[in-house]
Amino acid sequence: MSDLAALEQRAQAELAACGDEAALRAWHTKYFGKSGEVLQALKGVGAIPADQKRSYGQEANRIKQALTHAYEARLADAKQQALDRSLTAEMLDVTLPGRPMARGRLHVATKIMREITGIFADLGFQVYRSREVEDDLTNFELLNMPPHHPARDMWDTFHTTTPGVILRTHTSPGQIHVMRELCPEPIRVILPGMCYRYEQITTRSEIQFQQVEGLCVGESVAMTDLKGTIIAFARRLFGQERQVRFRSSYFPFTEPSIEVDIDWPKDDPNADRLTKGTGWLEIMGAGMVHPVVLRNGGYDPEQFSGFAFGMGTQRITMLKYAIDDIRQFWANDLRFLGQF
Ligand code: PHE
Repeated sequence: MSDLAALEQRAQAELAACGDEAALRAWHTKYFGKSGEVLQALKGVGAIPADQKRSYGQEANRIKQALTHAYEARLADAKQQALDRSLTAEMLDVTLPGRPMARGRLHVATKIMREITGIFADLGFQVYRSREVEDDLTNFELLNMPPHHPARDMWDTFHTTTPGVILRTHTSPGQIHVMRELCPEPIRVILPGMCYRYEQITTRSEIQFQQVEGLCVGESVAMTDLKGTIIAFARRLFGQERQVRFRSSYFPFTEPSIEVDIDWPKDDPNADRLTKGTGWLEIMGAGMVHPVVLRNGGYDPEQFSGFAFGMGTQRITMLKYAIDDIRQFWANDLRFLGQF
């Protein structure tokens, strides 16, 4: 009997000292496992003198129950404590709004391209793509610029290690490709794409930039068609109230050649700086397709005429959104790109 009392005391004391669930489980194995002390004590009843068997058995069972209850209470306690701890330590508030997924978007250069092609689509122009790696013949010669022609200085050129193979300096060589493909059909296309120039990179000029070329060829295409097309385009893109100005200019592949300006809203605080005080901003070069170019495309200039224009779309975007540094376009700075 005194052994039983000692066992209960010891087991209770050890139980009280258990710090966590693992210790409690070890305690349980020690006292209630297959060869645990409580079961041994219960089995020990066989060795007890007959007159004490009954009271011994009762006491052993009482101890077994008492310890079992104590153990279960401590185990439940330990589990609750562990839960409380993890709830405060790894606090998770399921009512908080989730983190939004960062969604991609179109690059501003792509957006403006789509806007421009959309406007010309409404005017009946199809999109025609042509190569960015060109030959000297198509980029210059067939556009009425023989080798050593001084007008070539207008286009500083990237040459490749293959003689005569260059990166196109403008989208105009596309005119030759379209004409040769479609001749003698009438043509009304735009040619968007990347161009390359071997230039000092500044806030206003990049070594790569996009252009949109336009070409219209038919039996009675006149300068007035060019003007009407450009005015319609400029007003769709920049606003119906825009004034458009045509200045005479020079390009080897058009005759006559013009440059096109739009007026800039006087109430824009940037107007003076942008237009250098003139109130006008250049948006493109254009003209009537030179007879030599028509002939190089397969068209008889006696029967056919045409107009062409070319604009730099980064420049146009800079005007539209008052962007002051062209280098932003390819700098991959999300703070810039995210604004569009
Ligand atoms: N290709 C010229 C340039 O890059 C622009 C232009 C295109 C001018 C078509 C006239 C006709 O500067």
